[in-house]
Amino acid sequence: MARIISPSMLSADFGHLDRDTRLMHDSAAEWIHIDVMDGVFVPNISFGFPVMKAIRAATDKFMDVHLMIVEPERYFERFIDAGAQLVTFHQEAVNDPRAALEQIRSLGAKSGISIKPGTPVSAIADVLDVADLVLIMSVEPGFGGQSFIEGSWDKVRQLRRLIDEKGTGTLIEIDGGVGVHNAGELFRAGCDALVAGSAVFGAPDPKAEIIKMLEA
Ligand code: DX5
Ligand code: ZN
Repeated sequence: MARIISPSMLSADFGHLDRDTRLMHDSAAEWIHIDVMDGVFVPNISFGFPVMKAIRAATDKFMDVHLMIVEPERYFERFIDAGAQLVTFHQEAVNDPRAALEQIRSLGAKSGISIKPGTPVSAIADVLDVADLVLIMSVEPGFGGQSFIEGSWDKVRQLRRLIDEKGTGTLIEIDGGVGVHNAGELFRAGCDALVAGSAVFGAPDPKAEIIKMLEA
């Protein structure tokens, strides 16, 4: 099973975005997580294309884009043009998840679908064959720095079983309240990729923190 850390740039110092992106570029993190919030799907607004392009200019690492926006299909192409290699939208934000996942693949990126804490794994069970990744939200989307919702463990284990049964090879990513305290257990429970914002950028030595999470 893969062990991937995807640091969330939402917790970076935007006054020193270039410095923080290069720090992640030089770290053991394989991916870079980009949180896009529109103030409608979630009660917060983060950033969009210009900021994402600045991050892209400072690193060629795999760009994992998490869209917390309504009508995400309208923007897939622009995010991919701006450097997204994996585009993840929310199941709760679309009417036809299968069509949205297929659209992302047809544009040449990896397809991801995310579920909020209140949405069951069963809501995405039928589209795993077209999903390269499922992102389980372990906090209510909208803000960094929240505590991990313990009910997420069951969702990870259930999804792991489902993916293994179906043999789709879909990756499992988890996002929210992740750090050294739970990283090892999350990998062992079946997660392939862990998103971490405040745990990485709030640490005295972010690069060392990433290694601790990978070795936990
Ligand atoms: C929350 C975002 C997360 C957030 C994680 O809506 O999707 O990616 O940045 O932050 P931490 O790791 O601080 O919980
Ligand atoms: Zn995220």
